[in-house]
Amino acid sequence: MSSKIISRAVIKRLPRYYRYLSELMEHNIVRISSKELSERMNVTASQIRQDFNNFGGFGQQGYGYNVEYLYSEIGKILGLERDHNVIIIGAGNVGKALINYPDFAKRGFIFTAIFDSDPNLVGRKIGNCLVKSVDELETYVKENEVEIAALTIPKSVAPEVAGNLVKWGVGAIWNFAPTDLNLPKNVIVENVHLAESLMRLSYRIKDSEK
Ligand code: NAI
Repeated sequence: MSSKIISRAVIKRLPRYYRYLSELMEHNIVRISSKELSERMNVTASQIRQDFNNFGGFGQQGYGYNVEYLYSEIGKILGLERDHNVIIIGAGNVGKALINYPDFAKRGFIFTAIFDSDPNLVGRKIGNCLVKSVDELETYVKENEVEIAALTIPKSVAPEVAGNLVKWGVGAIWNFAPTDLNLPKNVIVENVHLAESLMRLSYRIKDSEK
């Protein structure tokens, strides 16, 4: 595979391809043309071919793509061929919802620990984890290969906690707190701002009423 830089827009579309391919496999579909895939996904066939050409094309022209092969290759590109060790900071509504959602583990995102500062929550069982005290966070991060930390804490504390996590060795943050973390450039941050998504939805509703 070439080492050229893949645009963010392409990377953003890959999980959607991956999801559709997983559904095709569930329906025992073995091959699919870019035209059929485009109809199902509501994107143009040329967009699909262009996207896949970034990775060498994947398919035999005119014969369609082998669904399982494509699924596995896109999975590899997304780094899903191995498990990821994820911890959650904040055992409130969002933290609990994440840990109780079984599909993340199916994709290899394994929640190995959840931390909270509230002594009333420490020791409680959520999902398969017992809530740990934030006082144990530094040691835990240093002793375990934590790859991703999900921040489901109030925005007032998120930047400081994120800074500490990075200092202790975490390289990727999945940030649910509605604030910018301003971390060093080498830290990978994926923000999940649900309220912003809702505002975009609101805009589109308003726009459609014109
Ligand atoms: P929550 O109040 O239910 O839970 C937050 C938890 O973080 C609490 O258990 C609290 O004890 C803990 N905490 C506070 N400071 C901490 C620290 N320094 N270290 C470790 N734990 C700490 O809040 P919720 O609803 O789960 O929201 C969490 C974050 O996600 C917030 O920033 C919120 O704005 C954001 N968010 C919430 C949504 C929701 O629907 N509730 C939706 C989208 C984002």
